[in-house]
Amino acid sequence: MNRRILVTSALPYINGPIHLGHLLEHVQTDIWVRFQKLRGHECLYVCADDTHGTGTMLLAEQAGVAAEDLIEGVRREHVRDLTGFGIEYDNYYSTHSEENRTLSELIFERLRERGCIFTRNVAQLYDPERGLFLADRFVKGDCPRCGAADQYGDNCDVCGATYDATELGRPRSLVSGVEPEIRQSEHYFFDLPQFGDMLKGWTRSGAVQPEVANKLAEWLDEGLKPWDISRDAPYFGFLIPGTQDKYFYVWMDAPVGYMASFKNLADTRDDLEFDAFWAAGADTELHHFIGKDIINFHTLFWPAMLEAAGLRKPTRVHTHGFLTVEGAKMSKSKGTFILASTYLEHLNPECLRYYFATKLNGTVDDYDFNSDDFVQRVNADLVGKVVNIASRCAGFITRNADGELALELADEALWRRLVEASESIAERYEAGQVSRAVREITALADLANQYIAEREPWKLVKQEGTEAEVQAVCSLGLNLFRILAIYLTPILPGLSKAVSTFLNVGPLRWSDIDQPLLGGRINPYQALLTRVEKKQVDRLVEASKESPADDKDSGEGDQAHITIDEFAKVQLKVARIAEAEAVPEADKLLRLQLDLGDGQRQVMAGIKSAYDPASLIDRLVVVVANLAPRKMRFGTSEGMILAAGPGGKDIFLLSPDAGATPGMDVK
Ligand code: 2FM
Ligand code: ZN
Repeated sequence: MNRRILVTSALPYINGPIHLGHLLEHVQTDIWVRFQKLRGHECLYVCADDTHGTGTMLLAEQAGVAAEDLIEGVRREHVRDLTGFGIEYDNYYSTHSEENRTLSELIFERLRERGCIFTRNVAQLYDPERGLFLADRFVKGDCPRCGAADQYGDNCDVCGATYDATELGRPRSLVSGVEPEIRQSEHYFFDLPQFGDMLKGWTRSGAVQPEVANKLAEWLDEGLKPWDISRDAPYFGFLIPGTQDKYFYVWMDAPVGYMASFKNLADTRDDLEFDAFWAAGADTELHHFIGKDIINFHTLFWPAMLEAAGLRKPTRVHTHGFLTVEGAKMSKSKGTFILASTYLEHLNPECLRYYFATKLNGTVDDYDFNSDDFVQRVNADLVGKVVNIASRCAGFITRNADGELALELADEALWRRLVEASESIAERYEAGQVSRAVREITALADLANQYIAEREPWKLVKQEGTEAEVQAVCSLGLNLFRILAIYLTPILPGLSKAVSTFLNVGPLRWSDIDQPLLGGRINPYQALLTRVEKKQVDRLVEASKESPADDKDSGEGDQAHITIDEFAKVQLKVARIAEAEAVPEADKLLRLQLDLGDGQRQVMAGIKSAYDPASLIDRLVVVVANLAPRKMRFGTSEGMILAAGPGGKDIFLLSPDAGATPGMDVK
């Protein structure tokens, strides 16, 4: 039966680059999607960037660009990095889209009509300096339970307590540094408890893994609470219909982003009907792949929202665990916060896909990336066992049989053994137990290698009159190799393509597994995959020590300190402001020409609110001279000048005393 399947991965936030953690999920999803397609099903894979929130607004302000431009730039980078790993989306969109606005409003209206929305006053920390309510990650203070200093607004890293940000001792805003006030404002709530019974049934219907269902049962038994789905202005997001200053909370419109990405795709295609995938009772499938930190959003809030809005619920939510690197949380200082783009500069993406495949087991257990294990698995199993079959056999066919494969299978029983593994391997893929599929495939590769080792074509070829036998042995070897390559196609699409070129056949298809290649002519063998050297991984780690990383996910302690070596990399120099002008289109920016003694350079500085440009001419300032040039909306900035103060009128440029001259090092 042909299935129609829609698949998603969690939408990456735009606040940072793609790293190994994202790849674990998107590679896993892509393997599942490619497997479904290979089996002949219609399978669509959509994703998008998750763009909304106060964080986006602040990032854009800092960069002096419009939020829309910021998110489009990041989206392009995300797509480049993810597709660099062979991840094939049918659409990679953005939550900041008209489709998403319309669908989010529609769902909200339906929820309201059904009596699932109410408002209530909420007390929250408010930054009076910046005029904004502070999300938990923008406030720090003393833990109300153990007193530990420097804890975020939701939980304590030291004692593990969870609390409300208003309970923090000595709170301070991470946005402006000032002490926040407690202020009340009206929030919109989704009445989740109305859906408790529905969720009890749905979570036990096979829609989630058993261990996830157990966790959810605990929450469901404790009783659900209404969910706060609004945030006050200023916020980057969608206004709630009928309000002037209330926005949908980012987590309200993010999952709707799955639908919006699909809608954007369906609008370009005649064969895709929106309702066929989203209407209540749709006979298509909907699968979400997510990490275990966002289970509540996908298996409680989201299905309840869909139900309330009269839409279909997910067929299955596939939850995975976290990725550690060398046994620990990813860390910038150790070089284990590995960005996708850095990886691609050093190693073949297929090796990472294969390595993840050897780990994926369909549970919520955490996975570890271990560099020695990585090198070993790729070299010993993939190159040493699988690819080795082709490289051992190909030369004999090319040199001794003019590239022609034999007309019969030399050992049909062995060939059949590999063919017959197909259903069992397919079941493993279907269940997300990719590591078990890989184990079965490598065990089959062992059989093929054993056969070749026993028949020793390299010895046979030296004897008289053995041409036909050598051709037969190596033709079987290549037929076995082809089956293995078909089995590995979801994991290694690049290898699969290279194999189809080498064997001189069309794209590898699952349905061809039991159709041997007899009598065709192959192309001369070219290395399909080369071994990984440990030093390549070492270089990757070294390069990763310099990667700008996502603060939220980076290693503990890394945010508080930089090493002396890191500090030594920063070149501070004296500069003279030669020219200064306001950038009329930007609220905060001045365009400065700085004289550093050895020529001039342009720096965009966010100091418009405090300085009249004319007053700055000839003033000496301190500049970070070796900052990589950054393209901003209004021009490239080739450095950064140092200033103190909270912002607004209170910005104070740091100036060297008279006597300093442009170009001097600041020590
Ligand atoms: O946790 C995250 O990275 C979120 N950006 C995932 C959103 S998934 C979906 F619901 F939009
Ligand atoms: Zn504590």
